[in-house]
Parts: sequence; C-alpha cells; structure tokens
Amino acid sequence: MKKWGLLVLLVFFSWLGMASAEENCITCHKKISPGQVQDWSVSKHADNDITCSVCHGSDHQSAKDVSKAKLPDEHVCAQCHEEQFNQFKRGKHNFGWAAMNALPVTHLEPDQLMEGGKGCGGCHNMGIKSEEQKKELHARGYRYQNNSCDECHTRHAFSKKEALNPKACQQCHMGYDHPQWEMWSSSKHGTRYFAKKAGDLPAEAAAPTCQDCHMPNGDHENRTAWGFLAVRLPLPEDKEWAEAQVTILKALGVLDPITGKPTPRLEIVKKAQLARLTKEDFDRERNRIKNVCYRCHSKDYIDFHFKQADSYFKQIDMLMAKAINIVADLYKDGILKKRGQQTYPYPDFLYFMRTDYGAGFDQLSYIEQVLFEMYLKHRMRAFQSFFHVNPDYAYWYGWAMMVKDLGEIEELAKQMRANHGK
Ligand code: HEC
Ligand code: HEC
Ligand code: HEC
Ligand code: HEC
Ligand code: HEC
Ligand code: HEC
Ligand code: HEC
Ligand code: HEC
Repeated sequence: MKKWGLLVLLVFFSWLGMASAEENCITCHKKISPGQVQDWSVSKHADNDITCSVCHGSDHQSAKDVSKAKLPDEHVCAQCHEEQFNQFKRGKHNFGWAAMNALPVTHLEPDQLMEGGKGCGGCHNMGIKSEEQKKELHARGYRYQNNSCDECHTRHAFSKKEALNPKACQQCHMGYDHPQWEMWSSSKHGTRYFAKKAGDLPAEAAAPTCQDCHMPNGDHENRTAWGFLAVRLPLPEDKEWAEAQVTILKALGVLDPITGKPTPRLEIVKKAQLARLTKEDFDRERNRIKNVCYRCHSKDYIDFHFKQADSYFKQIDMLMAKAINIVADLYKDGILKKRGQQTYPYPDFLYFMRTDYGAGFDQLSYIEQVLFEMYLKHRMRAFQSFFHVNPDYAYWYGWAMMVKDLGEIEELAKQMRANHGK
C-alpha cells in the first residue's frame, strides 16, 4: 500500500515536471519572443498538443544553455507527416541545395549569400541536407536553415491555408531569371484569381493557382518537363533545333565544345536532375500538367498551345546559338583567351556574371556578360512566359530583348575584331 502510494506520487511529480517544463518554454518565450508563441498558439499543432519541446527537445531550459535547443530538420516533421515528406523527397525541390552547390560560381561568391542564406542560399535552402553537410555547415558556424518544410507554410503557424496562397511561392519564383510570379499574377489566370478574391467574380469561378498546376491534390512532389534550363535528352527531332541545343549544351559545359562528347558535368546534371534525360520522363511531366489544363480547356486548345510553345522555343534557341557562336569564334581567333578556372576556350554559363572566371577583374569580358544576360534573363523569360500565359513577357521582356542582345553582341564583336586587326 505504502509502495503504491509512493509510485502514484512519483508519477504525479514526473507529470508535473513535464508539464512545467513545457510551461517553462512558453512562459519564458512569451517574454522573449511573444510573436513566436502567438504564432504557434494559432496553429493546428497547438490544438493537438504538439508543443515546443516536441520539435526542439527539452534540453535547453534557460538563457545559459540556448545552444542545447535542437533545430528540427525535415525528419522531425516526417515522424508525423510521412506522406508529404516522402513526396517532397522524390520531388524537384529536394534538389535545390544540391543544384546551387553544383555550380562552380557558388564557391567564388561571399559565403553570407550561400551558406548564410541571404542570397542564392535564401531560396536554395530547399532540399534535405545530409548529416555530413549539416556537420560541415555547423563546424563553419552556420546553425540555422535545417528545414525546407517551413518555406511554404512558415513557422510557427505551419498553416495549410498560407501554403495554398500563390504568394507562398513568390519569394523564390520571381525576379531576374524565373519571374513566374510576375507572369502568372498579370496573366488572365492570375488576374481572375485576384478578381475572385476581391469578390468581383463568384467564389466558384475558375482561376488556376501555382498550386493547382504544380501541386495537384496536395502532392508535394513537383517537377516540369522542360525544367529551368530548357534543355533535354534525347535532343529534339528537328535538325536545326537539335544543333542549336547542342551549342547551348556546350556553353553550359555539359558537352565538350571541341569534341562534342559529354563532360563530367553531365553527371552533375543527372545527379541534381537539372534536365529530363529520357523521352519517358519528359512525356510523363508533360502529360501530368496537360491533364490539369484539360479540366478547364478543350484538348485541342491545349495541345495547340503546347505545340506552339515548342516551335517558338526552336526560334529562341536558334537566336541563342547564333550569339554563342559569335563569341566562340572570338576564342577561336585568339581575340578572347581562356582564363582563370575556365575549362575550355569557350563561353561558360556556369560562371554567371563572372566572365573573368576568377582570373581577376582586369580580364572581364563584357561581350560575355551580354551573352550571359541573353541566356539567363531573356531566354528564360521568353520560354517561361508561354507556360504562364503572359504575352508581354513572351515578346518585350523575352524575344525583343534577345534580338537586342544579339545586335549588341554582333556590334561588340565587330569592334573587338577591329581592335585586334582580325
Ligand atoms: C528561462 C527562459 C527560457 C526557457 C524556460 C526556455 N527558453 Fe528557449 N530561449 C531562451 C533564450 C534567452 C533564448 C535566446 C534568445 C535570443 O537569442 O534572443 C532561447 C532560445 C531558444 C531557441 C533558439 C535557439 C537558437 O539557436 O537560436 C529555441 C528553439 C528555444 N529557445 C526553444 C525552447 C524550448 C523548446 C524550451 C522548453 C523546452 C525553451 N526554449 C525554454 C530562454 C528560455
Ligand atoms: C512543428 C515543429 C515546431 C514546433 C512545435 C515549434 N518549433 Fe520552433 N522551429 C521549428 C523549425 C522548423 C525551426 C527552424 C529551424 C531551422 O531553421 O533550422 C524553428 C525555429 C525556432 C527558433 C529559432 C529561429 C527564430 O526564428 O527565432 C526559435 C526561437 C523557436 N523555434 C522557438 C519555438 C518555441 C518557443 C516554440 C513553442 C511555442 C516552438 N519553437 C515550437 C519548428 C517548431
Ligand atoms: C508529433 C507529431 C507532429 C510533428 C513532429 C509535426 N506535426 Fe505537423 N501536424 C501534426 C498534427 C496532429 C496536425 C493536425 C492534423 C489535422 O488537423 O488533421 C498537424 C498539422 C500540420 C499542418 C497542417 C496545418 C493546417 O493548417 O491544416 C502542417 C502544414 C504541418 N503540420 C507541418 C509540419 C511541419 C513542417 C513539421 C516539422 C517542422 C511538423 N508539422 C511536425 C503533428 C505533427
Ligand atoms: C529568388 C530566389 C533565388 C535566388 C536568389 C537564386 N535562385 Fe537559383 N533558382 C531559384 C528557383 C525558383 C529556381 C527554379 C526556377 C525554374 O525552374 O524556373 C532556381 C534554379 C536554379 C538552378 C537550376 C536548378 C535546376 O534543377 O534546373 C541552379 C543551378 C540555380 N538556381 C543556382 C543558383 C545560384 C548559384 C544562385 C546565386 C548566384 C541562385 N540560384 C540564386 C531561386 C533562386
Ligand atoms: C495554368 C497552370 C499553371 C499555373 C497557374 C502556373 N504554372 Fe508554372 N508551369 C506550367 C506549365 C505547363 C509549365 C511547363 C511545363 C513544361 O515544361 O512542359 C510550368 C513551368 C513552371 C516552372 C519551370 C520553369 C518554367 O517556368 O517553365 C516553374 C518553376 C513554375 N512553373 C512555377 C510556377 C509558379 C511559382 C506559379 C505561380 C506563380 C506557376 N508556375 C503557375 C503551368 C502553370
Ligand atoms: C512548395 C511549398 C511547400 C513545401 C516546401 C512543403 N509544403 Fe506542405 N503543403 C504545401 C501546400 C500547397 C499544401 C496544401 C495542399 C493541398 O491541400 O492542396 C501543403 C499541405 C501540407 C500538410 C497538410 C496536409 C493536409 O491535407 O492536411 C502537411 C502536413 C504538410 N504540408 C507537410 C509538409 C512537410 C512535412 C514538408 C517538408 C517535407 C512540406 N509540407 C513542405 C506546400 C508546401
Ligand atoms: C524557398 C524558395 C522556394 C519556394 C517558397 C518555392 N520554391 Fe519552387 N523551387 C525553388 C527552387 C530553388 C527550385 C529549383 C530546385 C532545384 O534546383 O532542383 C524550385 C523548383 C520548382 C519547380 C520545378 C521546376 C523544374 O525544374 O522542373 C516547380 C514546379 C516549383 N518550384 C513550384 C513551386 C510552387 C508551386 C511553389 C509554391 C507553392 C514553390 N515552388 C515555392 C524554390 C522555392
Ligand atoms: C482552373 C481552370 C483552368 C485551368 C486548370 C487552366 N486554365 Fe487557362 N484559363 C482559364 C480561364 C478561366 C481563362 C480566362 C478565360 C478565357 O480566356 O477562356 C483561361 C485562359 C487561358 C488562355 C488564354 C489567355 C488569354 O490571354 O486569352 C490560355 C492560352 C490558357 N488559359 C492556357 C492554359 C494552359 C496551357 C493550362 C494548363 C497548363 C491552363 N490554361 C489551365 C482557366 C483555366
């Protein structure tokens, strides 16, 4: 009897201990970071007793042991949300960190922008980091950014409604080389969405969002046929187009510009899934998204739209290849010389604006910056506009700017040749 009483007392105190530990997190953090506690308290997690210590552990209890607080990675979320975790893991977002780190330019830029997450790394935090990667980051003093799940439903509200708002995608899918937000929000698809929100269209009116097309049925795996780079294998059947794509692949350093054979970079492209490399993979993604369009449009309307898209891409790529060849000829004739970390005497897009290739700013080549902008800013806009149904991006921000870039490249090459007497 006495024994039982002691046990009951023990259980009671350990329960009290746990409850007060939890209360501690909240009472103390209500003073330290009230906004955070407020956010959590309106979440489904608060309703379901998923308290601070479930995600952060309970080793940290005061201002003196802050470093003992665990910062939860995606595996912590997976304990209760396995389905979304597994979909995410299979999807393209899971390659964001790897793709960024695969680029040579990343390792020439300030760390604050990469590991620190204030530039490229602010958007490319998407992707589950390996234990090894995390250890290395921690050793270099980077403690945060362990979780990709809080990128669309942000902490600590972790709200589904927030993630269903297209604005959840805006921070990353905007701007210089992927203005999907700008294109969609000013297209008929987007403007109808906003009209609906303002009550100017009935709530039932059709207006597809990013999520409707890219995360149908809440599927956390997402991927597209052309991807970001808009290159693919097998090459297009059309001969002229295939030739233009080969030229682009050389400037990406995936094909050797001299022999035309694949380089070690092809392995990187494969590993980070930078392009679809079989017809089956390409068609699967195409058909998946077409099936979304068919919900609101006729099959013929949509099939014609995609056919036009592909034939427009051919023209874009031929313009691009022409510009690459002009700059490549400057290397051939010794007017531009291989420098710094450059592998081939040929333009290399993976060094971005650093057309000195790490060699020193006295060796910048302006013509290559114009070529790069033609590729990353204007070619991207031209092709992405088609899918996001935006006429102004298709013409003025896309095609017209590419034509202007080509004109400038022709003019600059002429001047450079005159200066070199070649
Ligand atoms: C007595 C006050 C106190 C208690 C109790 C407390 N914390 Fe904290 N916590 C702090 C302070 C102070 C900081 C540092 C805040 C700062 O950097 O401005 C902190 C920081 C944190 C951080 C951020 C760690 C980082 O590296 O930035 C997390 C996560 C955290 N607390 C979670 C918890 C959890 C979970 C509990 C309960 C198990 C808890 N806290 C209990 C005071 C407290
Ligand atoms: C469902 C899991 C979950 C719960 C519950 C949770 N957090 Fe967090 N918390 C996170 C994640 C994810 C991060 C970001 C980790 C990273 O960036 O590495 C984070 C980061 C933090 C940080 C550091 C970053 C910042 O913005 O200051 C603090 C402090 C923090 N949480 C406090 C709390 C407190 C206090 C509670 C309870 C009121 C709580 N957390 C509940 C998942 C959670
Ligand atoms: C211990 C279990 C547990 C953990 C760990 C956990 N969750 Fe949850 N989560 C829940 C429960 C329970 C719900 C409520 C489910 C419901 O209402 O159907 C929920 C709901 C959600 C929702 C939907 C909210 C809404 O508005 O409907 C999101 C998003 C979410 N969690 C994200 C996360 C993320 C991200 C993490 C990791 C940082 C995480 N959860 C960790 C249990 C957990
Ligand atoms: C504003 C957010 C943002 C910033 C900043 C950013 N990126 Fe990206 N990046 C994205 C998005 C979004 C995509 C995918 C775009 C698409 O598919 O149209 C992407 C695509 C890429 C890809 C191609 C990935 C693939 O699989 O096709 C690479 C490589 C890349 N970025 C590297 C970088 C590097 C290096 C930097 C910094 C110099 C950088 N990014 C800066 C958001 C960003
Ligand atoms: C009406 C459907 C639809 C909507 C709405 C939509 N997209 Fe797309 N998106 C597509 C299609 C179709 C493709 C290209 C498929 C292909 O390559 O064949 C695409 C491609 C993409 C790509 C890959 C690169 C590119 O632009 O081609 C990204 C990234 C993307 N969309 C993000 C977004 C974001 C973010 C939003 C919202 C701001 C959005 N999309 C809205 C249909 C849509
Ligand atoms: C690209 C943005 C994005 C990222 C990243 C993301 N989610 Fe989501 N999540 C969404 C959207 C959108 C929804 C709402 C889907 C729907 O209901 O159609 C959602 C819904 C959820 C829900 C609620 C499911 C339900 O139906 O109640 C959970 C749980 C969840 N996500 C967990 C996670 C976890 C875990 C991760 C990380 C592995 C993650 N999410 C990463 C956009 C995202
Ligand atoms: C934190 C930044 C971030 C947010 C928020 C984000 N994305 Fe992304 N997204 C990226 C990055 C980075 C990539 C490129 C991933 C890679 O390199 O593999 C990407 C890739 C994609 C792709 C694949 C393009 C391809 O190559 O096929 C689609 C589709 C996409 N995002 C849609 C969305 C949608 C829809 C949302 C909102 C619900 C969203 N993203 C929110 C950063 C983000
Ligand atoms: C949820 C319904 C819905 C889905 C899904 C949808 N659309 Fe639309 N689309 C509309 C509506 C509504 C309009 C505006 C009315 C109109 O012009 O028919 C529109 C307009 C268009 C237009 C004409 C724009 C203009 O300027 O006249 C094109 C082209 C288009 N959509 C293509 C697509 C493609 C491609 C897809 C799939 C990637 C798609 N749509 C998916 C509802 C949808």
